[in-house]
Amino acid sequence: MNSAALKAKLEAKDPSVMEVLLSVNAQAADVAEEARQRLINAITVYEKTFASEEVVVVRAPGRVNLIGEHTDYNGFPVMPMAISRDMLIVAGASKDNVISFANVIPSFQGGSFTIERNIPPYQGGDWGNYIKSATQGLIDFWGTEEGLQGLKMVIDGNVPLASGLSSSAAFTVAAAEAILAINGRTIDPVVLAEVMAKSDHYVGMASGGMDQSISILGQAGKCLKIDFYPIRTKLVTLPKEADILVCHSRVKAAKAGNARVAYNMRTVECRIAYMLLHKLAGKAGAKEPTMLYDWFANETEGFDDALNKIETALVDEGYTVKMIAEALGVSEEYAAKEVCLTKTGEVMPEPQGGFQVKKRARHVISEARRVEDSMALLNGDSENKAEAFGLLMDQSHASCRDDYEISCEELNALVEAGKAAGSYGSRLTGAGFGGCTVHLIPKGKGPEFIKKIHEAYYLPHDLDGYADNQYLFAPAQGAGVLFK
Ligand code: GLA
Repeated sequence: MNSAALKAKLEAKDPSVMEVLLSVNAQAADVAEEARQRLINAITVYEKTFASEEVVVVRAPGRVNLIGEHTDYNGFPVMPMAISRDMLIVAGASKDNVISFANVIPSFQGGSFTIERNIPPYQGGDWGNYIKSATQGLIDFWGTEEGLQGLKMVIDGNVPLASGLSSSAAFTVAAAEAILAINGRTIDPVVLAEVMAKSDHYVGMASGGMDQSISILGQAGKCLKIDFYPIRTKLVTLPKEADILVCHSRVKAAKAGNARVAYNMRTVECRIAYMLLHKLAGKAGAKEPTMLYDWFANETEGFDDALNKIETALVDEGYTVKMIAEALGVSEEYAAKEVCLTKTGEVMPEPQGGFQVKKRARHVISEARRVEDSMALLNGDSENKAEAFGLLMDQSHASCRDDYEISCEELNALVEAGKAAGSYGSRLTGAGFGGCTVHLIPKGKGPEFIKKIHEAYYLPHDLDGYADNQYLFAPAQGAGVLFK
């Protein structure tokens, strides 16, 4: 559609455009109105930066994970929902094979790069890398960059950054949607989710596929249970007597920074757990596959058995490289370089106190069970679903805090504030190490909770200056083209 014509429709609140903005945002009128204003602004920036011309508008949402933390890269399911915070991109075709981009916020410096078979990344931490990772992911999928047309894009995002709500996945997915739309190509959404799931590896993060999958596959009004390898989804209905409140601790969990190394370390500890448990099951030290799920599915009789085996086979203390080498019957050099390795090829040095293998494995298996239990509960017909699901969320937080050690003082304080205010369940969400908590609260009680949590957490932490700390989210629709 011509940018000027689209802008005129948005300005006139034309029912055809408002309907689209409402439908992707679970019919929330205030969110649709905000999206309308953001788009008018983004089109204005586009016309100033590039030209008034044919454009498409694509959108990709962030997500909040309700339960199932750090399970995805272990081959176990997660249960997230897409949120009404998203990335909107206004994009137009360029005549060459160059991708040029700008942000509505000028401090996010724009740039451009040429489409080629192997696109060199910008420096670590550059936001343009998320556009590059999307482009590279699509090129790897097609096996060639030939015939791919360049584009110009203006991006407006309102997913809080480094908050555990997947702003980077929303960005990557939106960029991929823009590239597809401008090139008139389509990819089945589940296949696209598989392609984009690997895209974080481009920025050195050995993550699983949850964030990109839910951004693409989210359904308005529902959360999803997502299984991996290969990606499969099931719709899950939230308890009708509950709302979802998300609170930002304001501790930054930057994927390009502090959180990356800690996250990658967890993936390595899980890999060591897999190799030790697999070896102790009497199988030769396998190199691949290296997911705890493979051990669970092939060498245990279910959750109880798996948890028992972890308790008896692994030691409580941290594992040194020497201990790993002895247990696996390999050289220390091999253990250090080939076992303590992320799937992005990064060697993780032995941390002080050793690799925490037992606790990590216990978290993964117990968390996977909680996801299965949550789905059975929420899609079943028992009474008191909110209380029962809330309890599982509380248990998940305790496990994330004590066994997976991905919480921090601020996240724990927010969880306690949520519980003290009367939530059914409260837990950290996303990778951890900062970012957000998610609370299952009684329906319609949002304003009351927001006030109480403000008083219990934000005021004493001197964070009352932030206007945008707490969000009530309804499950939003996954990514796609809004206007073309
Ligand atoms: C990040 C990763 C996901 C997932 C979560 C933790 O968001 O990108 O793949 O591992 O952390 O559950």
